[in-house]
Amino acid sequence: MRLPKAGTIEIAPSILSADFARLADEIAEIESAGVNIVHLDVMDGHFVPNITIGPQVIAKLRKYSNLVFDTHLMISEPAKYAKAFVEAGADHITFHIEVADDPEKLIDRLHELGVTAGICLNPETPVEQVEAVAPLCDMVLVMTVRPGFGAQEFMLEAAKKIAQIRKIVGPNIRIEVDGGINPQTTPIVVSYGADTLVAGNAIFAKSDRIAAINAIRGASK
Ligand code: DX5
Ligand code: ZN
Repeated sequence: MRLPKAGTIEIAPSILSADFARLADEIAEIESAGVNIVHLDVMDGHFVPNITIGPQVIAKLRKYSNLVFDTHLMISEPAKYAKAFVEAGADHITFHIEVADDPEKLIDRLHELGVTAGICLNPETPVEQVEAVAPLCDMVLVMTVRPGFGAQEFMLEAAKKIAQIRKIVGPNIRIEVDGGINPQTTPIVVSYGADTLVAGNAIFAKSDRIAAINAIRGASK
């Protein structure tokens, strides 16, 4: 599966707020709502103060879904584990600039391994830190909460970086936004230039996930 080319708005539900005991069913439900991407949050308890899933869970899920596996590595040593996530079935891998020793090298390596690559920056991280590598990526991920947990409050100041990054990368690279995205915050981030909207709590905390996805979709237009 390939990340859709830039030019469309995509909603990427984050499984962080899903029922982890029923992940395959939860993903099937959002697939039936017509999304193309599922956002998989990988946390190591070191880069962020929470622990989620690793390559083994992703490999099992791969058998149940044809969605693009957008894999957000919130881990301290992304280069060490990149290959394991590709082998597990990740389609797109995002790592954090704050822990990347040689981001250009890791982007090249991900491309060689056959996946698309993303760089992510935390709310406190200035745009200047990703300026050189953002144009080499397929997607840039802007955090609008501190990574680690779902259902946190959207940080408007962090979202403003989307507009700066859009100027740097032009129209052909996706900009994804992650944290506090719901029908109220969607128009703001879309106006700044985001085209890939991660939403966890706004979808999986609702009993009608399809209606929740449609509400975000409607707000993005
Ligand atoms: C946070 C994760 C997000 C999270 C977003 O560390 O990277 O993907 O699931 O959750 P919401 O949409 O609930 O803010
Ligand atoms: Zn995420």
